[in-house]
Amino acid sequence: MDGKNKRIALVTGATGGLGTAMCKKLYDDGFHVIANYRNKQKADDWYAMMRTDGYDIDLFEGDVCDFDSMAKMIKEIESKFGGIDVLVNNAGITRDGRLAKMSKDDWHAVINTNLNSVFNCTRNVIEGMIERNFGRVINISSVNAQRGQFGQTNYSAAKAGMHGFTKTLAMEVAKYGITVNTISPGYIATDMVMAVPEKVRDQIVAQIPVGRLGGTNEVATLVSFLASDATSFITGANYSINGGQHVY
Ligand code: CAA
Repeated sequence: MDGKNKRIALVTGATGGLGTAMCKKLYDDGFHVIANYRNKQKADDWYAMMRTDGYDIDLFEGDVCDFDSMAKMIKEIESKFGGIDVLVNNAGITRDGRLAKMSKDDWHAVINTNLNSVFNCTRNVIEGMIERNFGRVINISSVNAQRGQFGQTNYSAAKAGMHGFTKTLAMEVAKYGITVNTISPGYIATDMVMAVPEKVRDQIVAQIPVGRLGGTNEVATLVSFLASDATSFITGANYSINGGQHVY
């Protein structure tokens, strides 16, 4: 791809820790990066910080929980810049608590943001990818989908659902040059992980053979690898990146 015809990559939930690292890495690797956000104030600060760091990234507002909001946002992006080549379904939240205490709202918030979002975004880009015979869909799941985590029935269910989606969609679109893969990060140094009570977090880190939290740039490197043109034979896969915390 030359400078004018860069591949277009859309990252959802881009202003969080993982999303920021992904945007930077994809930009460094030559993509035209589009960042989706929901919180305007946070996005304005983020944009200023990215500009200071030399990153020219386009921001688009939209709620991944809302199908129509994603349809509108994606239509705007595509009419302004062209078809989306790479979709990174990264937006996600936690509402941790034992099921015996979990509210209906906390269940639905996590399923909507972490799983229904994957349908809302992917459904709106997939036909264009099929028409253009190229696409990369990358779903950011979690080690806690692969192994379960006390206090995360909502999160584990949503994140495990993402990989079911990956496997089936990979089969449906393989003949159109589209790959669909899951990345399952372990405990990465983000605000989400830092929100886990310190005592609990220390116990978790003690179970990681590498002996530390992962870096956001380590996950971003894998995202950019899967986004590249070179990975056209990798599809339906689930990449673990967890410092050895869960091996199977
Ligand atoms: N295994 C077994 N028992 C556990 C336990 C565990 N891991 N954690 C808590 N318990 C037990 C306690 O010992 C206690 O038992 P008793 O009542 O018999 O003493 C009981 O559960 C306490 O339950 P409470 O409902 O009162 O809950 P709490 O206020 O202590 O909080 C919790 C429970 C919300 C699960 C809290 O421990 C917690 O936040 N854990 C971390 C969850 C976690 O790892 N989240 C990941 C967030 S980051 C992320 O998700 C990113 C990613 O993809 C990796």
